Amino acid sequence: MPVKNVLVMGDPRLLQVARAVSEFNTPALTLLVQDMLDTMAALNGAGLAAPQIGVDLRVVIFGIDRNPRYPQAEPVPMTILINPQIEALSEETYEGWEGCLSLPGLRGLVPRYKHIRYRGYDPQGNLIDREVSDFHARVVQHECDHLDGILFPRRIRDMRYFGFEKEFPDHWNNAALAQGKRPE
Ligand code: NI
Repeated sequence: MPVKNVLVMGDPRLLQVARAVSEFNTPALTLLVQDMLDTMAALNGAGLAAPQIGVDLRVVIFGIDRNPRYPQAEPVPMTILINPQIEALSEETYEGWEGCLSLPGLRGLVPRYKHIRYRGYDPQGNLIDREVSDFHARVVQHECDHLDGILFPRRIRDMRYFGFEKEFPDHWNNAALAQGKRPE
């Protein structure tokens, strides 16, 4: 049950474009996925990308049942996704609050595509092909960004809505409500 150290913003390994996985169903891949699952569970994350534990491969995991870090979020099935590709199904975007285990304590308001199709493989090499919306789509876009060396602050349009989550419930919900957004 090895819980790995999660790299934080500033570590140059978080800025790399990760390498595609070339072999499925291997002991090394099984171990990597287990480390990622253990690490995400220990930290109550909604998702984790291999580069966040210092592994230069295009592997992400995500899924929430009920997550105390995202109390209002709809459930997302636990998924291990390898070599993912994302296609926007419409130009429609929406803003939502995001956090990241590589930016502990911080939140930001990030625009994402509302409807996407994503494809990739599970650790055995079986195809995963889904059309999803809203929070599920957001989580996938956030995690796949990690594989291209992109952390969520680079996606924020208005940096007034980036800061420490302990300030989140009051000031930011009021700011979001003032803009007609759904409070989180
Ligand atoms: Ni993240």
